[in-house]
Amino acid sequence: MCGIVGYVGSNLAYPVIIDGLKKLEYRGYDSAGVALHMGNSIEVYKKEGKVAALEESVYGKNVQATIGIGHTRWATHGEPSDRNAHPHYSNSKNIAMIHNGIIENYAQLKSELLQKGYTFKSDTDSEVLVNFIEDIKINNECSLEEAVRIALKRVVGAYVILLLDKDLPDTIIAARKGSPLVIGVGEKAHYLGSDASPMLAYTKEVVYINDYELAIVRPDELILKNLGNERITPFVQKLDMELAAIEKGGFDHFMLKEIFEQPQTIFDSLRGRMDAEQQSITLSGVDKIAEKFLSANRIIIVACGTSWHAGLLAEYVIEELCRINVEVEYASEFRYRNPIITDQDVIIAISQSGETADTLVALENAKKQGATIFGLVNVVGSSIARMSDAGAYTHAGPEIGVASTKAFTAQLTVLYLIALKIAQLKGAIEATLFNRLLADLANVPAYVKEILDDQHAVIQAIAKKYSDARDFLYLGRGYNFPIALEGALKLKEVSYIHAEGYPAAEMKHGPIALVDEQLPVVFVATKDSYHEKIISNIQEIKARKGKVIAVVSHGDIVATELADDVMVVPQVHEIIAPVLSVIPLQLLSYYIGIYRGLDVDKPRNLAKSVTVE
Ligand code: F6R
Repeated sequence: MCGIVGYVGSNLAYPVIIDGLKKLEYRGYDSAGVALHMGNSIEVYKKEGKVAALEESVYGKNVQATIGIGHTRWATHGEPSDRNAHPHYSNSKNIAMIHNGIIENYAQLKSELLQKGYTFKSDTDSEVLVNFIEDIKINNECSLEEAVRIALKRVVGAYVILLLDKDLPDTIIAARKGSPLVIGVGEKAHYLGSDASPMLAYTKEVVYINDYELAIVRPDELILKNLGNERITPFVQKLDMELAAIEKGGFDHFMLKEIFEQPQTIFDSLRGRMDAEQQSITLSGVDKIAEKFLSANRIIIVACGTSWHAGLLAEYVIEELCRINVEVEYASEFRYRNPIITDQDVIIAISQSGETADTLVALENAKKQGATIFGLVNVVGSSIARMSDAGAYTHAGPEIGVASTKAFTAQLTVLYLIALKIAQLKGAIEATLFNRLLADLANVPAYVKEILDDQHAVIQAIAKKYSDARDFLYLGRGYNFPIALEGALKLKEVSYIHAEGYPAAEMKHGPIALVDEQLPVVFVATKDSYHEKIISNIQEIKARKGKVIAVVSHGDIVATELADDVMVVPQVHEIIAPVLSVIPLQLLSYYIGIYRGLDVDKPRNLAKSVTVE
């Protein structure tokens, strides 16, 4: 949420920053801007719209600087506009700053500054902060670094800030609390970013900055300090990521590329973790806190959005296989509602980005109350990964499309492994079921490929047929209910069509009133123990002239004859079926979005990695 980039070195900063902003655009794309240190002054260029609009507006201007900072915005305070875009100057124009996060006590700080005669050009909390820092610098006659340190002690909220100072032509000052910051170490150059993607073309050596740390960054020097002005030795890590992973690779959109990557990403999630012959699962994170899992009062799963849907499926699976009580919580509710947590609880946090503010704070609260945290995270080195007591990475690779696809199936895959592993450790699962599930899991990458190969054109045609619909209903039972919720969310995100997911049997308690000949109803109706029941639900919709689109198992003649349109998936054990059922729904959403002429990779109002609450 908001992407930040910085460069200081001996090459031109502007191209590095623009290229970096394009890589981070998935984090926010309502406006963009850069600040360049020109030696005697700081020049700021900013523009409402995507990074391409900024580039166009800067065309022909002097950008001959070797140090600069850039920002792509997801609006919090103040509408998307040129004046609310970052960077923001201080009143004197001696300091320019970009900010990702929210300053909660900005109103108090602003009124103090107004009384002192400061003026504001934007509606943002960020402009308040840069002036607050300038005010401290002037009054204390101190360095920018010192002023930042003093200012941050008073700031309530979350931030990553990068600052340029007219008096410091070779230095970027950076600080973080609650929002991510990575610094890449190059040859007489440093790169700053919200994640590692802007620096991947230049270096693989990175330092992940922690909360309450302040960085003084020069071409050949990276000084890290805490807010008490004590030096910290930067911990340089090697990135295990290739540039190709963050490019479109011949696909029209990242979303489509990521949908089609799933045979590989699911394979990567399983790789080295499952041995069907030995009937064993290797997950060192589970081993590390095995005792906690086995003696847990309950497992609480905390997540948001799509990751929450993965958590809901995990509740069904873990309770079934492990016979451990599981609760699934929206992180945003959990963090505020004073839940009862003890040291007997294990929290599984699910997060693609590992930076979602609500999840992060919910975990911090639970940790303080003694719970053990297990992080299931995609982004290596992210905040949730680092604050967890143990965990497992999903290994889906960078997910750039804002609507999550491959990260979700990777989450499901690893959650299956976690459930099976705990069930085996607990002796709660019969060997035959364990082996059957393991065998089905091993086949999932091939089955996903089969769906993508065989159903792609079919789904494209179904999408075209229904792309003008105003509303959609998604229904599923049991293990497929979370997939109905996920299907509806995906459609909303990329097509802006109103869609609701419900347990199929709940339909008659209200949503059935929506059904008429205009309403497409998507049933996730693969063959499982509730199959006859869901067939009855399909009939109830047909009786009211609703249009039925069904995800069905291969060879299911009954459902195929009843539905208006079907999307076919291979038949596997009902516990594993959801990871297949979701694939056609991802493609359906993608193509409906495309037929409606929308930017599916960057849906309006959304951003990846929600680092504000
Ligand atoms: C939907 C989507 C969001 C995220 C949610 C949590 O397609 O991507 O609903 O799942 O914002 O994000 P993470 O998983 O990064 O914590």
